[in-house]
Amino acid sequence: MHIDRRRFLSQGLRVSGAIVLAHDAEGRSAIGSESELKFAALEKRISIGAAVASAQLKGDRDFARLVSDTCSRIVPEWEMKWSTIYRMPGIVDLSGMDYLYEYAKSSGLRLRGHPLLWHSRIPSHIKVGIEEGRARTLMADHFRTVIGRYGNLIDSWDVVNEAIYPEDKHEYGLRESPWFRALGPKYVEEAFILARSMAPNARLVYNDYNIEYDRRKAGYVLALLRRLVKEKAPVDAVGLQSHLWATGKKIDHAGLSDFCKEVRDLGLDILITELDVRERKFDIPFHERDATVAGVVEDYLESIFQYGPPKEFVFWGLSDRYSWLSKPDYNPENPRGYLNRGLPFDDKMKRKDVWAVIYSAIKSIK
Ligand code: G3I
Repeated sequence: MHIDRRRFLSQGLRVSGAIVLAHDAEGRSAIGSESELKFAALEKRISIGAAVASAQLKGDRDFARLVSDTCSRIVPEWEMKWSTIYRMPGIVDLSGMDYLYEYAKSSGLRLRGHPLLWHSRIPSHIKVGIEEGRARTLMADHFRTVIGRYGNLIDSWDVVNEAIYPEDKHEYGLRESPWFRALGPKYVEEAFILARSMAPNARLVYNDYNIEYDRRKAGYVLALLRRLVKEKAPVDAVGLQSHLWATGKKIDHAGLSDFCKEVRDLGLDILITELDVRERKFDIPFHERDATVAGVVEDYLESIFQYGPPKEFVFWGLSDRYSWLSKPDYNPENPRGYLNRGLPFDDKMKRKDVWAVIYSAIKSIK
């Protein structure tokens, strides 16, 4: 049966049980050996995704093929951040994002927009503008630029990222940020309303981390979601970043289950947006490390799936070859820069135990 891969994948056609064979324009089998996870997920109307960077796709054909085989969506790991786009005053650099857009379009993939508004990675000249009273103009210009440019291929947006940080002791547990200082606690609502006005059909997401470990933070995130829903702000889902730890840190299962139930009761979807596992022990055999990583994810999914599976299942990277957790700057547990083995594929693009855990969790969904 010949089905054009682009149509098949971009429309997320239901797979009737068997994997439908498809071929690309050159007649090559467009369904690589790594497509079974994606199609198992599509059968349950779940998208599988990964964070990538344009340089990884340009410079590594094996990786680019693995991404298009395994995923039905990609998310820019850093090329949609303000620090990349507005790095130079007066210049709007979307070259990286444009490449990712073209790659997604030609591979029949969708994109996640990440992030529209974040406290981090704001260039100093932009911070000056925010502090000088141009916060709303800067926010509207940015939203118009990126939402307008990429249209419906980006059907899921992290509208606000990581706005909760109770340690800053602000109202509602909101984080001290240039946006908070300039626009007050309602900046989150404003951002969602603005995003909806430009992306009428996209999934609008509030995205944050550590909810699976920190019940206090989870409580503030839930309170934020309740306020957004009560005030009819157009939020559709919460993104659990899901940066997990294979270091003995314990998941708060009871708190996480309650959180997921409350989110569902609010009528919101749950997404896994940045799944990976941070290691601390690098001097033990790979098979032991991979089994530990798989166990951490299996443990986590038991709570997440209890109140219905996530609509999007996105890894923060796909192969260990490009994991941010191998960089000492981002992973204080890894000062020597060892390869962190916290993703579904190793640095040679081979599946690991955690791949099987995720595949069976998805296959087990009724
Ligand atoms: O390598 C490029 C260089 O070629 C380029 O000229 C330069 C210009 O900015 O950037 C360099 O890339 C850096 C990239 O990491 C690769 O090392 C970016 O500067 C740097 O911003 C980027 O850091 C990213 C970080 O967010 C901040 O943007 C990490 O890759 C990324 O994994 C991390 O992701 C965050 C999520 O967005 C939010 N949740 C937490 C997660 C982990 O911190």
